Parts: sequence; structure tokens; C-alpha cells
Amino acid sequence: MITIERITSHHDRRSFDCGVEQLNAYLLKYSGQHERKGIGRTYVATRDGETRVLGYYTISSSGVAFDLVPENLPHHPVPVALVGRLAVDVTARRARLGETLLIHALRSAQRAARIVGIYAVVVNALDESAKNFYLKYGFQELSDDHLHLYLPVKTIERLNL
Ligand SMILES: CC(C)(COP(=O)(O)OP(=O)(O)OC[C@H]1O[C@@H](n2cnc3c(N)ncnc32)[C@H](O)[C@@H]1OP(=O)(O)O)[C@@H](O)C(=O)NCCC(=O)NCCS
Repeated sequence: MITIERITSHHDRRSFDCGVEQLNAYLLKYSGQHERKGIGRTYVATRDGETRVLGYYTISSSGVAFDLVPENLPHHPVPVALVGRLAVDVTARRARLGETLLIHALRSAQRAARIVGIYAVVVNALDESAKNFYLKYGFQELSDDHLHLYLPVKTIERLNL
């Protein structure tokens, strides 16, 4: 079984390798700093009873310009939850861990949206392959960049995750 929880100093991140150096480095060097500064929350997946990180995501509040969203919204920055990073160790791929982490992130955003206004979850897909992963769950393109994607919270509500 897999546990997903907020990162602590007890989690072993040294051997994490998702194949993307920038995402490995974030987990190792910056996730703790960003936690302490309140800039980003990192959630890690481990096997029950183990401390080795097999996957993670980060989530923060953010905003996007209203004219990037192809819907009629007030002319102000649109509040969103940014899933800035989501990655799975190469040894744990294609076993639905990415999906489990994404659903956990969507649920976190859904809960937060009951307390503060959040219109959508936004991601910056690294490349076409990562984009295809997000498209499976209903993410759509924002109008500035074909890798900049969003999923409205009202759509997440309908998914009944
Ligand atoms: C993208 C990533 C998170 C997927 O994780 P994973 O655990 O291997 O994916 P899952 O097993 O949960 O796959 C869930 C579904 O997505 C599909 N999928 C997984 N990776 C995919 C990819 N790269 N392209 C297209 N579809 C993909 C799976 O086939 C599966 O589809 P199905 O429901 O039709 O069977 C992982 O490959 C990764 O960490 N990549 C490097 C970092 C990255 O690109 N992160 C995302 C952008 S920040």
C-alpha cells in the first residue's frame, strides 16, 4: 500500500530519480526550504512502513490572467492552485502512482476551494508526453502556451474523486 503525506525530514529523498534532473533537484534541495517559507507544500508517496520517496507533487496558490481562460470571467487575475511539480521515480512508473498523486492534488485543491476562492487547478506540463498524461484527466489548454493547462474546480467536483 502507498501512503501520501506532507514531506518531513524523515523522508528519504536521496535516491529519488524521475529522469528529470530539475524535478529531482527540487525534491532534494528546495522542497524543505519552500515548506518552511510557506511558498509550496510538497506531498510525497512512500510504501507503507518505508521512508523512501517514490513520487511527489507540490501545490501552491497562484493566479493566471483572466484572458488566458476561455470562459467569461471578471477582468481580474483568476485564483488557481498550481500543481507546480508532479513526478514518479523511474522504478515505480506505470503503476498508477502518477494518477494517485494527481487525484490527491485535485482533492487537496477541492478542499482548499471550500475555504478560499480557487477557480481551477493549473499545471505546466514539461513536454508533450507529460501533457498527454494530464489530458487524460480532463485538463485543457490555457491560451498562452500549449503546455499550460487547467482543470476547473467545478469539473473536479463532478469527477467525484
Ligand atoms: C508523467 C508521470 C508523472 C506519470 O506517472 P506514472 O505513475 O508512470 O503514470 P500512471 O501509471 O499513473 O498512468 C496513469 C495513466 O496515464 C498514462 N500515462 C502515464 N505516463 C504517460 C505519459 N508520459 N504520456 C501519456 N500517458 C501517460 C498511463 O498510460 C495511464 O493511462 P491509462 O489510464 O490509459 O492506463 C511520470 O511519467 C513522470 O514522473 N514523468 C517525469 C516527470 C513529469 O513529466 N512530470 C509531469 C510534469 S511536471
